Amino acid sequence: LRQSVTSRAIAPVKDSMQPLQPQASTFKVAILGAAGGIGQPLSLLIKMSPLISALHLYDIANVKGIAADLSHCNTPAQVLDFTSPAELGNCLKGVDLVVIPAGIPRKPGMTRDDLFTINANIVKSLVAAVADHAPHAFINIISNPVNSTVPIAAEILKKKGVYDPKKLFGVTTLDVVRANTFVAQKKNLRLIDVDVPVVGGHSGITILPLLSKVRPSVTFTEEEVEELTVRIQNGGTEVVEAKAGGGSATLSMAYAAARFVESSLRALDGDGDVYECAFVQSELTDLPFFASRVKIGRKGVEAVISSDLLGLTEFEAKALEALKPELRASIEKGAKFAQKQE
Ligand code: NAI
Repeated sequence: LRQSVTSRAIAPVKDSMQPLQPQASTFKVAILGAAGGIGQPLSLLIKMSPLISALHLYDIANVKGIAADLSHCNTPAQVLDFTSPAELGNCLKGVDLVVIPAGIPRKPGMTRDDLFTINANIVKSLVAAVADHAPHAFINIISNPVNSTVPIAAEILKKKGVYDPKKLFGVTTLDVVRANTFVAQKKNLRLIDVDVPVVGGHSGITILPLLSKVRPSVTFTEEEVEELTVRIQNGGTEVVEAKAGGGSATLSMAYAAARFVESSLRALDGDGDVYECAFVQSELTDLPFFASRVKIGRKGVEAVISSDLLGLTEFEAKALEALKPELRASIEKGAKFAQKQE
C-alpha cells in the first residue's frame, strides 16, 4: 500500500501549535461482501484512509459486529452496517465508490471459472442495485472469475442505461503485487522500487506479467522469465493449496484492493498522477476487455497505456496470443449470461 493510507492514519497526533492543513475532499465508499475473508481486512485497511468520510459495510451475514468493532478505531470514516437486500439501496445511496468482494472463493483443485455459476448471480444482483442507487459511482470488482464478472457487470449496467466504461474496473492489483514481490526477491531489489506491469486477464495463462517492462530496468535469463511468469500466474493457487480448503487469498488481496481503492480515491480527489493496472473495457487489443496500465482521473479511466505492449519479447508476444482465446471465451461467457437475464 502506498505510504499514505497507513502512515497518515496511524501517525501520532501533531503538535497542536502547528497550522491546520487544508482539508482534502473525502468520499463515501461501500463494500459489498464486507464480512468475508477479503471484506474484513479490506474494511480495516481503508478505515485508515483520510480520504474516506463514510464506510458502508454490506453483507448478507454477520456485518453488524464487524461494523461495531471497526467503528471504534479513531480514524475519521464513519462506519455503517447494512445487512439484508432490503437495506442495500440505503447502503449505496450517495456513495462515490463501490467495492465488490462478495462471492465464494476457490478450494484446492478448482479454477476461477468453477465459481462462475454462484458468483455470476451474486455480481449480477449487486451491480443491478448499484445501477439503481449509485449509477455514477466507480465500481471495483474483486469477485471471481473477474474475466467474466466484469463483462457481466457491464451488460447489467447497459441494460439499466447507466453504463460508463470508464468507471468499471476489475481489480487485478494482486497480480501486480505478487509480481513485484517475486521479482524483487529473485533479483535482490528493494521492494519499494519494483513495478511490474501485468496485462491480459485475471486467471491462469491470461495473467501476463511483462517482465521486459519492469522498472527499474532489470535483465532476466530465459529460465527466470519462464519460472517467474508461471509463479505469478499460479500465485493464487499457491495460496489456495496452502490454505488446504480454507479459501483463497484474503490478506494479500485486501492489501491489493486497499491500494486500488486508495488510487481510485486519489483520482476522484483530482490527483493527476494515478496509474494502476486494471481489467477494463479496452481497445488495446482485439478483445473487448483487457487488463493493462490505465491512467485514472476524476471521471474514471482517462487513458489506457498502450506503450507497455510495444516492443514485447518473443516470449511475451507468444504468451499474449496464447491467452486471447481463453480470455475471449470468459468474456463472452459473462456477457451471454447477463444478456440472457430478465
Ligand atoms: P468469503 O467467502 O470469505 O467472503 C465472501 C463474502 O461474500 C461472505 O461474507 C458472504 O456472506 C458474502 N456474500 C455472499 N453473497 C452475497 C450477496 N449476495 N451480497 C452480499 N454479500 C454476499 O470469500 P473471500 O475469500 O472474501 O473471496 C471473495 C471473492 O473474491 C471470491 O469470489 C474470490 O474468488 C475473489 N478473489 C478475487 C481476487 C482478485 O484478485 N480479484 C483474489 C482473491 C479472491
